[in-house]
Amino acid sequence: MKLDHFIESQQLNKQTIFSLFKKAEELEKSNERLLSKKILATLFYEPSTRTRLSFESAMLKLGGDVISTENAKEFSSAVKGESLEDTIRIISSYADIIVLRHFEEGAAKIAASVSSVPVINGGDGSGQHPTQALLDLYSIWKEIGRVENITVLMVGDLKNGRTVRSLCYLFGKFENIKIIFIAPKPLQIKDDIKEYLERHKVEFEEKNELDKHLPEVDIVYMTRIQKERMTSEEYQNAKGLYSITEENLKLLKRDARLLHPLPHVEEIELSLKTEQEDRRVAYFRQAKNGLYIRMALLSYLLE
Ligand code: CP
Repeated sequence: MKLDHFIESQQLNKQTIFSLFKKAEELEKSNERLLSKKILATLFYEPSTRTRLSFESAMLKLGGDVISTENAKEFSSAVKGESLEDTIRIISSYADIIVLRHFEEGAAKIAASVSSVPVINGGDGSGQHPTQALLDLYSIWKEIGRVENITVLMVGDLKNGRTVRSLCYLFGKFENIKIIFIAPKPLQIKDDIKEYLERHKVEFEEKNELDKHLPEVDIVYMTRIQKERMTSEEYQNAKGLYSITEENLKLLKRDARLLHPLPHVEEIELSLKTEQEDRRVAYFRQAKNGLYIRMALLSYLLE
């Protein structure tokens, strides 16, 4: 399968997903300089720790170089009124591949339509974050040994959570996945995702009692309430409604895993000790997997 750009999770098929997983495993063990002389440009209009730095680290580990605008909203010529299209046309003549994070849904698609080099969507508003979904699925595979025949509890801001949306699109590629969604009422999963899951025969339910469902699942995928995408009143009403605490973590099966795309705030109330010592708490290992899956993706798009 040939990909020119990676904009949305639906672009991947099962075979490509597993070949990326294998490549990521290989790259974790070896230090191949597969992308020597290639240049990655990271163009971020929204804040990021993991996505930008793991992509940059991935490129450097593969022997390539990086050029970057960490705050494109303030430090790129967008400030002077330059369009995203013109910015991308210019950057694609300086770099071999671009990772774009943008505050508007659909921005990565627009960028891809004018770019002469591959564009990777590093998150577009409340749209998608497909490389996060890929590393989430890779983490499930590594942690519990399978990505089929699983029950997943997805909790938090399911309306604005682009990682949730992208991961649901990936779940649609696999067999026998059941999803339980739990969200504050105004932040429930959108209809387009529900329709997609129905079309792809992924069983799902919308519920509201977190503790009741924790013992039933293999994966808990917690997410942050996205303060930046709502009014302060909406945020106050939604925050803290659902959280993982020392107490309710005990309800989780011994071999289940707690994932989170991070950063986490009020929805995770665990001590540092529990985060470090309870094997079920997997989100820091998950973030590390992002480095290897992004190495695999860069080499897939550029080799
Ligand atoms: N998960 C994620 O996208 O993290 P950053 O916003 O830090 O990149």
